[in-house]
Amino acid sequence: MLEKMKIRNSEPTDYERVMKVMVDWWGGRDLRSRVYEDLFLHFKQTSFIVEDEKGELMAFLLGYLSQTFIHEAYINWIGVHPDHRDEGIARMLYERFYEVARANGRNRVTCRTALVNQASMKWHQHIGFAVEEKNGRYFFSREI
Ligand SMILES: CC(C)(COP(=O)(O)OP(=O)(O)OC[C@H]1O[C@@H](n2cnc3c(N)ncnc32)[C@H](O)[C@@H]1OP(=O)(O)O)[C@@H](O)C(=O)NCCC(=O)NCCS
Repeated sequence: MLEKMKIRNSEPTDYERVMKVMVDWWGGRDLRSRVYEDLFLHFKQTSFIVEDEKGELMAFLLGYLSQTFIHEAYINWIGVHPDHRDEGIARMLYERFYEVARANGRNRVTCRTALVNQASMKWHQHIGFAVEEKNGRYFFSREI
């Protein structure tokens, strides 16, 4: 499957497509108001879209290089179509992100996830992230 996918940087027009699938992909949680349209344009070098051979959306990653912490890059959102989970797509997107982050002098990747999203908590730990709780918020990090 991985060989039939097309991976490219995000475009502003991807925002609406992501909005259409998010509630479903997040199992009914509606987090759409927390995804900023501007990310798709202003952070396109560190944001990726995966499509199948027919152009259907399979996955997306939105991330950026931290301006505050010059050795860090931050992953804001990762989502994979429910029919394509466990195929290594999210891992592959993270690795793509690490490459860009390293090329920009970053050696650490961080992200956050909500306690309610146990699958995400477990997944991040499975792929090598350490988790730290501060005031009820869960911060993930790993060296790259
Ligand atoms: C979390 C999510 C991004 C994982 O995507 P995915 O493409 O299925 O993950 P991958 O196939 O790349 O998984 C890589 C590895 O993690 C394992 N894995 C997958 N889901 C897992 C889970 N919930 N818990 C623990 N391990 C998991 C896979 O078996 C695979 O293991 P291996 O290669 O070491 O044998 C996906 O489930 C998703 O989109 N969830 C809904 C959106 C979400 O919650 N996003 C995260 C918060 S922004």
